[in-house]
Amino acid sequence: MNEPWKDLLSIGAKNIKTSPIREMVKLIRQPGMISFAGGMPDPAIFPVDQFYECAEILREKGTDVLQYGATDGYAPLKEFLAGWTGTRMGRKVLTDEILITSGSIQVVDLLNLALIDREDYIIIEEPTFMGTTANMLNQGANFLSISCDENGMEVDKLPGIIEKARSEGKKIKYIYTIPNFQNPLGCTMTLERRKKLIEVAHRYDLVILEDDPYGYVRFDGEHEPTLFSLDERGIVLYAGSFSKILAPGTRVGWCTGPAALIKLMQGFKQGVDVSTSVVSQALVSEYCRKGYLESFLPKIIGHYRRKRDAMEEGFRKYLPLEKVKYVTPQGGFFYWIETPDISTKALFDRAIKKKVVFVPGDAFYPGGGPDRNFRVCYTFASSEDIDEGIRRLAEAMAELL
Ligand SMILES: Cc1ncc(COP(=O)(O)O)c(C=O)c1O
Repeated sequence: MNEPWKDLLSIGAKNIKTSPIREMVKLIRQPGMISFAGGMPDPAIFPVDQFYECAEILREKGTDVLQYGATDGYAPLKEFLAGWTGTRMGRKVLTDEILITSGSIQVVDLLNLALIDREDYIIIEEPTFMGTTANMLNQGANFLSISCDENGMEVDKLPGIIEKARSEGKKIKYIYTIPNFQNPLGCTMTLERRKKLIEVAHRYDLVILEDDPYGYVRFDGEHEPTLFSLDERGIVLYAGSFSKILAPGTRVGWCTGPAALIKLMQGFKQGVDVSTSVVSQALVSEYCRKGYLESFLPKIIGHYRRKRDAMEEGFRKYLPLEKVKYVTPQGGFFYWIETPDISTKALFDRAIKKKVVFVPGDAFYPGGGPDRNFRVCYTFASSEDIDEGIRRLAEAMAELL
C-alpha cells in the first residue's frame, strides 16, 4: 500500500519512544499469566459503590458538569486539593498555584512544552520511569543521568555533572526526581539529600520536577517533607495523582508550583485538551468532599503493605537469596531485584513461558542499561498469585543458574 504520509513525519515521530510496558499488555492478558509488570493498583479494592454514589452529582449539577470546563480545573476540586495537600506542601497553597491535569503524566508534557527546546537537557535519576522519559524524548530533550542508592538520588554528584555539561555548552533546564518510593527502585530520598538538592538547584538556577504519585502510600516510617515545602524560591513543581490512591481510570492528576509557571502551563493545556474531563473531575471531587478519600487511604496502605509482605515472604520461601539482592521498600508499588549472575532478558523469556511476567530493568534506562535487574510490582496480583508467581520465577531462575 502506498503510504505517502510516511515521508511527511516529524522528527519526533521518526524517533518516537513508546513504553515497553504498554507493549506488554497483550502478554499480560494471556489466560493464566501472573503479572508483576505494570504498576497497577489492585482492582479488587476500587471503591466502586462509593464512586457510583458520587455520580449523583450528574443529576445535581449536570448542566455544569457536562459543559466545557475551565482549563485550570474544576473549582471545587482545586479548593479541596489546596486544603488537603497543605500538610505535605508545608502550607495551604493558593488555587492559582494548582493546575488539574489529565493524569500526572500530563504535568511532564506541559512542563516540557513550557521549558524544553530541542537539544535541551534534563537531569534524570537512572533508572527511572520510562513513561515520563518517553515524553521528554518525544519533545526532543536529551538526558544527563544521575545514579541512586537506597537513599535516593546521589545528590553530591550533581554539581560535577552540571558544571561539566555547562562547560560543554549544554543547556540544562530541570532536574526530574521521584523522591518517594522511586519507580522502579522503590527507594526514598533522605531529608539531608532533599535539602542539598534544593540548595544545588538554587545555586545553578534550575527547576525541579518533583513527581510524587506514590508519596501517600507509605507503609513504614515517617513522611519526609516534600521538596516543594523545602523550597523558598519557587523553583519546584510538584506533581500529584489520583491514579495510585483512588483509580487510574479517573485520569485526574494535578501539579502545584509557582503561579506564573502554572499559568503558562495552563496556556499550553488549552491547546492540548482544553481541560481534564469535567465529568471525571466532578466525580473525584465529590468522592473527596464526602470524606471517602481520607477513609480509603488507610485501607490502601494496609492492603498494599500486606501484599508487599506476601511478596517478600515469597522471596524468602523460593528465591536463591545468595544470588539476588533487594531492599525492602517502605511504600509504593515496587521491588527492584538485582541478579548479578543472571541475564534478566533470558529470565524474562523463561518466565513468560511459565506464565509470570515482570519488567526487565533495561527498560528504565532511556539509553539502554545493564541486563542484571528487574522490577516487580506487588499491588496488582492477588496474594495467592504473588506466592505462585514468585515460585514460578524461582523455577525460571534455577534453570539459568
Ligand atoms: C513515577 C510516575 N510518574 C507518573 C506516572 C503517571 O501517572 P498518572 O496515571 O497520574 O498519569 C506514573 C505511573 O505509573 C509513575 O510511576
